[in-house]
Amino acid sequence: MCGIIGVTGTGPAVPRLIDSLKRLEYRGYDSAGVAAMVDGRIERRRAKGKIRELEAVLATEPLSATVGIGHTRWATHGAPTTPNAHPHKAGRVALVHNGIIENFAELKAELQAAGRVFESQTDTEVVAHLLDHELSGGKAPLEAFKATLDRLTGAYALAVLIEGEDELILGARKGSPLVVGWGEGEMYLGSDALAVGPFTQKISYLEEGDFVAVTRAGATMFDASGAAVDRPVVQVSASSAMVEKGAYRHFMEKEIHEQPDSVQHTLSHYLDLVTGKAKVQTLEAGAIDFAKVDRIQIVACGTAFYAGQIGRYAFEKLAGLPCDVEIASEFRYRSPAVTPGTLAVAVSQSGETADTLASLTWCKSQGLKTAAIVNVHSSSMAREAHVLWPTHAGPEIGVASTKAFTAQVSALLALAVAAGVARGKIDGQSEGELVKALFEAPRLIAEALQMDADIRAVTAELSKATDVLFLGRGAMFPLAMEGALKLKEISYIHAEGYAAGELKHGPIALIDEATPTIALAPLDDVFEKTASNLQEVAARGGPVIMIAPRTAPDPHGAGIQRIHAPDCHPLIAPLVYAVPVQLLAYYTAVQKGTDVDQPRNLAKSVTVE
Ligand code: F6R
Repeated sequence: MCGIIGVTGTGPAVPRLIDSLKRLEYRGYDSAGVAAMVDGRIERRRAKGKIRELEAVLATEPLSATVGIGHTRWATHGAPTTPNAHPHKAGRVALVHNGIIENFAELKAELQAAGRVFESQTDTEVVAHLLDHELSGGKAPLEAFKATLDRLTGAYALAVLIEGEDELILGARKGSPLVVGWGEGEMYLGSDALAVGPFTQKISYLEEGDFVAVTRAGATMFDASGAAVDRPVVQVSASSAMVEKGAYRHFMEKEIHEQPDSVQHTLSHYLDLVTGKAKVQTLEAGAIDFAKVDRIQIVACGTAFYAGQIGRYAFEKLAGLPCDVEIASEFRYRSPAVTPGTLAVAVSQSGETADTLASLTWCKSQGLKTAAIVNVHSSSMAREAHVLWPTHAGPEIGVASTKAFTAQVSALLALAVAAGVARGKIDGQSEGELVKALFEAPRLIAEALQMDADIRAVTAELSKATDVLFLGRGAMFPLAMEGALKLKEISYIHAEGYAAGELKHGPIALIDEATPTIALAPLDDVFEKTASNLQEVAARGGPVIMIAPRTAPDPHGAGIQRIHAPDCHPLIAPLVYAVPVQLLAYYTAVQKGTDVDQPRNLAKSVTVE
């Protein structure tokens, strides 16, 4: 959840730490800090808030060093204050941590009883004290580190400085990702490839339970038992250019506009427009045979969960394949009854979300075949699953997911077509038509982006609302929930997404003149039903914004305002209608002046439960 970086080299370390922390801010931005080795002593600078606050502190109290660690925090234990900001220090030790130490209370009590005084409310500080305690007992750094790790329960990625070990950074990973970056005469530790992206593309991924000693000369790695191991050095592409905003005001705006490309790139992986065939079968030959799958179990969180629900409609309709979708944090703890022919599919942008990863691992442990639809292809889920089904959205920096969502939906729709073909539910001609329809999505998404001015026009009113409803039927129902989530997330307006037919079973009581309803109404076989539901809302004085194609008939309700969306094949409607939904949230948030890319209380990558 938090972001970690460590640098040991010969050049100035602190500007490098700051550069990397800015790229890691997507993992959390409640507070930030750095610690550096200055003339054999560890010095810290920390600040509540974003990296720019830390920069302001460093401007008045600079740190000159060639070795240092840095952290950007998403608070779990302890409020986002400066004393709770990392790095935490105890005696000779300073360290940064991503994860949760579950047994911190008992360790803290033990250390306090031994006379140790704590300065924060965090779980992390116990690790610093524990390590310092082991060092004080005369152990060498690696031995003390291993003894410390052996006492920790929970999840951690750690980067550690020790006074008296001028060039050394220790690192460890369990349940939270950590990579070693290999530079020229300089070495790095980071939360992910993006963290070390500005300095090197040569990465070693630490495995579960590994720990590592890094100096400017290289890295020595050990597995959980303490045996020396080699983790391969891989070349990754973490292009710095991809994480710039360019001419856009916010990353979210840029990412919304990148969707014609990101959807096209993703679809091209699964479909062949020239032959009109779903090529997933040949790509993944031998890995997953949909004809032999009895059922699909999708696990995901948040926006990825809604993408999964859209996928479910497609798998059942196109392939006759029973499909369940469940929020991973529920799935992992409720002892689900899985059957042997089930294919478990994790959907995730980051590939690191703790609950989704745990659900995937559990399914694998039950002997199920597993697949991961992920955007970060080197992530833990990508490596854990039997099959990687990539999305090609590129790095997504805005905390509110946009292009990753449409890339997930694109992959799921293409896979559903492939499954339909494999199961004999789609003949050659239909396959060609569906593939063609999918390939029209990038153009129609580009057309949907032209709705910008119409959408912006309604957000002046929308931003005054305190409650908003989103309605849809079929695959528009999960999209309605996604629309509500997007609006809540970045504009802080309370919003709910409902199945349009469900309104009269309760939520219609909320309707009044101050509660706008956004209806997602493509011209599909349930359009008339949705239109009737909108009349019911309008008849009760509720303002309605109906997003529907120009060719759709008018529902004749007073107070129903229309915004025209492109005409499209029903299969790709969730992709096309995602755009107005995202723009609505975006412009409402801009209108309200909220922090669009880094909304309060959130983080991009949720690597804690
Ligand atoms: C909402 C959002 C989150 C993520 C969720 C899962 O805009 O981005 O709801 O979708 O935290 O994250 P990933 O996809 O990385 O597993």
